[in-house]
Amino acid sequence: MTTDLIALIDRHVRDIPDYPQPGVVFKDITPLLGDHAALTATVRGLADPFRDERIDYVVGLEARGFIFGTPVALELGAGFVPLRKAGKLPARTLSQSYDLEYGTATVEIHADAITPGSRVLIVDDVLATGGTGHAAVELVRRAGGNVVGLSVLMELGFLKGRERLPDVELRALIAL
Ligand code: PRP
Repeated sequence: MTTDLIALIDRHVRDIPDYPQPGVVFKDITPLLGDHAALTATVRGLADPFRDERIDYVVGLEARGFIFGTPVALELGAGFVPLRKAGKLPARTLSQSYDLEYGTATVEIHADAITPGSRVLIVDDVLATGGTGHAAVELVRRAGGNVVGLSVLMELGFLKGRERLPDVELRALIAL
């Protein structure tokens, strides 16, 4: 990753203390989304490592993974598939639950969204504990796709999400 791109992203992601709850510092990407140069560089940066990988589908993770995933799919000449929180997709779904600090979360994908044997890139804004990313990898595999990689804007390394994805090509534009 070039230092220019890292600096550009750094300048456009702001810390919001105590959101959504006390003690949490939220990484707000809305300034980056509002800046054409930063948005363009981010989308290209997410796509670049996978340009020669013949990606058939980009799977974007609700909700911020939708924002980046769709233009990355266009960059790579691929289709876009949404992975959504439970109960949002209208046709038959595959579901995967995963543990949160308190309770569980469930994500879903349309059962027929991915042609079996297809090459799939998963895109999201942040990798934190890796719970969402791991569930996405499982769902894509259950749907018959080959997970070529996971491309994220930010990796929060101190949460060790990477350790939950030992067999996945994980690329992050910036690591914190
Ligand atoms: C955030 C983020 C990732 C996920 C990362 O999404 O956009 O999808 O958490 O966390 P993890 O690695 O610990 O699973 P969030 O659930 O806040 O959903 P949103 O994008 O709809 O706000």
